[in-house]
Amino acid sequence: MSILKIITIPDKKLRETSSEVTVFDKKLLDFIDDMIDTLRSKPGLGLAAPQVGANIRIILIESRGVKDEDGNVIYENIPLKVLINPEITKFSRDKIEMEEGCFSVPNVFGPVTRPKKIKVTAQDRHGKKISINASGLLSRVIQHEVDHLNGVLFIDLVEDKTKLREIRTEEEIQG
Ligand code: CO
Repeated sequence: MSILKIITIPDKKLRETSSEVTVFDKKLLDFIDDMIDTLRSKPGLGLAAPQVGANIRIILIESRGVKDEDGNVIYENIPLKVLINPEITKFSRDKIEMEEGCFSVPNVFGPVTRPKKIKVTAQDRHGKKISINASGLLSRVIQHEVDHLNGVLFIDLVEDKTKLREIRTEEEIQG
């Protein structure tokens, strides 16, 4: 188990289309464990394999939840999800704007409008097919991470670039 190095822009690997995972072996399980260690070592909600320099279709999502001083939920709790070869098969027509950030675009945050709800099919770490209906924070993070597999970064989706903010905080959504 080890913490992997996260690559940042302008590394070209962040702009490639990643390949499908076809071999579900011990090497893959070890790599996923390293991705989990890496995600848990940072204040973030998701991680995609290209962010650690591997252009293969694997994403992780996990949130331990964040509450403000009054106990109001800022980020809900999401148990660890490992999605291999994820494919978003349905997007809701309803959209919502939310602030995003990314480990690979350090200290930059901005508002991104995305569909509220999605349906995702994927495989688990043993290759078994799974299907998820996602809304809220889970939907948001899955969409951000799947974009990484297609070489897309959240900054591409911020329509008004004047709304990109450069800040240093460990409290906001990153993935
Ligand atoms: Co990201």
